[in-house]
Amino acid sequence: MKEACAMQALFKPHCSFRLGAVVIATVLSVSTVQAETSASENASAAANTQVQFPANPTAGAHYATVTRGSTREELYTSHEAIAAARAGEPLPNGTTIVLEDFRDDTLFRYVIMEKQAGFGEQVPEHQRTGDWLFREFAPDGTPNASVDGSRCMSCHQSQSANDFVFTLDRMKAYSD
Ligand code: HEC
Repeated sequence: MKEACAMQALFKPHCSFRLGAVVIATVLSVSTVQAETSASENASAAANTQVQFPANPTAGAHYATVTRGSTREELYTSHEAIAAARAGEPLPNGTTIVLEDFRDDTLFRYVIMEKQAGFGEQVPEHQRTGDWLFREFAPDGTPNASVDGSRCMSCHQSQSANDFVFTLDRMKAYSD
């Protein structure tokens, strides 16, 4: 799945359905491997359901906007997380990063990552993203049960040098 991920990162990282053909081709070619790994993926999927929709998802620092064609992403995290990023420290346990995903200026979904002590040990090592877990929510805050977070984790693994966060530099550059 990594190749498909890398390709999508070049285009629309949060727009998988537009590259469905690539994903389907990859799924077919790795179906045997998938049978062997399904137990560990189930463990990751169960772990990811611990990410809760925040009471106020857009509280805290609005530290970045990312625009790609008709997609606009608004990114939020806590002021404590920004301070840690600026100090070059790991983002603190308890950090939530919220990405609001708009299509043609209409809220399409939220993708959220949360870091808590002990989250990582619930995830098999090959899928682990430090102590971060991942979940997708509909605009009304309902979890999207058809997304188990395994794709999120495999793509964000590429950012292990940046605490698994693609936009860590944007946090460092942000000032209140
Ligand atoms: C194909 C790669 C890819 C996949 C799959 C992916 N992301 Fe991301 N994610 C990115 C990139 C790249 C960014 C930086 C913003 C941008 O360029 O759109 C990002 C940004 C984020 C951010 C803001 C913090 C950061 O890392 O910059 C959150 C939160 C996030 N993603 C959550 C998720 C969740 C939850 C899922 C699964 C539902 C997911 N992502 C799936 C590539 C991916």
